[in-house]
Formats: sequence, C-alpha cells, structure tokens
Amino acid sequence: MNYGVKMAIHNKSHYNHALMALNKMRKLKQGTNDLFRSPDRVLICLNIMDCCDFMKTIPDESVQLICIDPPYNLELAGWDIYDNYIEWAAKWLDEAYRVLSKNGNCVIFGGIQFRDVKSGDLIDIIHHVRNKTKFKLINTIIWRYKNGMSAHRYFANRHEEVIWLAKSNDYYFDLDAVREPYSEKDLEAALKDKRLNPENTMKGKNPTNVWEINRLNGNSKERVGHPTQKPIEIIDRFVKALSYPGSVVLDFFAGSGTVGRVCLAEGRHCLMCDSDKASIVYFNKHIELMRELGQTVEYEPVQDTEDFFNKYKKVCSDER
Ligand SMILES: C[S@@+](CC[C@H](N)C(=O)[O-])C[C@H]1O[C@@H](n2cnc3c(N)ncnc32)[C@H](O)[C@@H]1O
Repeated sequence: MNYGVKMAIHNKSHYNHALMALNKMRKLKQGTNDLFRSPDRVLICLNIMDCCDFMKTIPDESVQLICIDPPYNLELAGWDIYDNYIEWAAKWLDEAYRVLSKNGNCVIFGGIQFRDVKSGDLIDIIHHVRNKTKFKLINTIIWRYKNGMSAHRYFANRHEEVIWLAKSNDYYFDLDAVREPYSEKDLEAALKDKRLNPENTMKGKNPTNVWEINRLNGNSKERVGHPTQKPIEIIDRFVKALSYPGSVVLDFFAGSGTVGRVCLAEGRHCLMCDSDKASIVYFNKHIELMRELGQTVEYEPVQDTEDFFNKYKKVCSDER
C-alpha cells in the first residue's frame, strides 16, 4: 500500500496500449470484448491517500475507464463535507481528463441535494463538466431501485443518477457485452420488426439508460461493511461496456473496492485510492466473499502507481 505522494509522470509513449486496441477495433468496425484476451494475472493496487495527491502519480492517457462514486457534501460522514465542493471537484475532474486514454470513459455516480442546497452535487458537476472541461456527456443513466427510505413530506426517492463522460467521440463502447436477453415472446416480435437488425436482435436488447437494480440491503450477501457500498451488478455493466479485458480501470474514491472486485472477476487491471485505511479491510472482505463463491481471487497486489505501470508495461509487452 502507498502512504506517500509521488510526482506526476507525463510520458505518454509507453501507455498507448489503449490506442492500439482502438485501432484494432476500428478495423473490425464494432467494439467487442472478444478481441481482447484476459490477462493471466490481474494487477490490483489500493493506495491510501488523498485523491488529488494520488491523481498526480498517474501518467497521461494511461487509463481506459474511471469509475467513481464521490462524496457529495451530504454530510453523511466526516469525509463528506466540503466548503467549496466544485472548486475541489474541479481538481480531480481535470486530472481525470488528463489520465484518460483518447478512447477512455469516465463514470460518475450521483447525488442531488434538495431543499437546503449545500455547495455542490451531481447537477453542479454536470454544469462544470459542460462549461469548463472538454469531456463529452454521453449518457445519464437512471439507476432505479425498489428498496429505499419511506417519506411523508415528498415522493420517496427511488433513483440515483450516474453520468458517463468520454474524452473524445472515439470512445470505447461494447454494447454486445451488456445486452439483455429478450423474452421468447419479445424476441419473436423483435425479429418481425423491419427496423431492427436481426443479427443484433439475436444478441439481445440494449439495456437502455434506465437500469433497475436494487440497492444493497443491510443483510445483502455482497455487503462488506462500507456504508455506501454499490452493487456489483451496476459496476459490472459499466466495466464490461466501457473497458476491455487487460485494460486499466481507475477508482479514486474506492470505498470498499467494489470496482477492484469487478475488475478481478472481469480481467481488468485496477488502480484504486481511498483516504480511509478501512478500505483495505473492506477490500479483503470482498476477496474473502469471492473465494467463498468459488471465484478467481488470484491477483498481483501492487505497492504504488509507478510499480503498477511498470508491471502493466511488462504485461502488455509479454502479450505481444
Ligand atoms: C461513496 S464512497 C465509495 C463507495 C464505493 N463505491 C463502494 O462501492 O464501496 C466514497 C469514498 O470516498 C472516500 N473519500 C472521500 N474523500 C476522499 C478524498 N479526498 N480522497 C480519497 N478518498 C476520499 C471516502 O473515504 C469513501 O470511502
């Protein structure tokens, strides 16, 4: 684990694996995870430090997918209070843009404050991203769940928003990896629909930008103890659609390390950071649960970002 701060590395030339992958994809016209081989061993690095210091250690254009679930000034915990939220968020958003590969994606989980607006939430992030960065907003995903708190003075909340940003119009997107199967009856109807391509129809339907996935209950089998842990299913869909096997995925608000767990299962290398050292305990619990489920838990733990990219370079050259 890394408790220190390292200087930024700004050498792009060694990290063009993603770009090569994009070219490979362009030739075949359609993005598909099948083009890429899962690495024999996944690299996992969990750093305990402040996200802004951590981001400075990551080379330019070295990451395929950033998947983050930031604090939203909701004052739910000590880490959730910021005087000037957007000023702080702008720092990591700029760094996120810098470290993403040209075909990279960035997913940001949301929170919206009602009534007494504090200094920032997802709406402010969207406004900032649109007006002050070069990110492209590709989708707003509505994460709808059936379980939640009851309410008497307003309609009980049953959704959260997640934004998908891309660095360029050449963003990687593998729809086939996340298509949903049609029911027998719907498939029959879809195959008769002249507007639909039958080959794609056979692969399943687009899951759309409204995803119904329940939140984790207190007694959920996935729970490792983090108060705002996200369900594996939702992270899995982003990882499969917006990154490819063997690419680098980054989460600098790791919490329990759900993103790391999914990367391990899906053959992506994962770089994580959280300011709270309890993350290490939570992540180990994830690994324990995976082991109980008979899933692959073999990974190479990496000490810090520099070591991570040195090892990543080696993995990429061994694969060529
Ligand atoms: C919403 S939680 C992430 C939960 C995670 N998605 C999961 O599934 O377990 C946000 C995390 O950000 C961390 N955090 C807050 N401020 C931070 C900072 N400045 N640098 C790094 N981590 C920070 C908190 O410790 C917390 O674990």
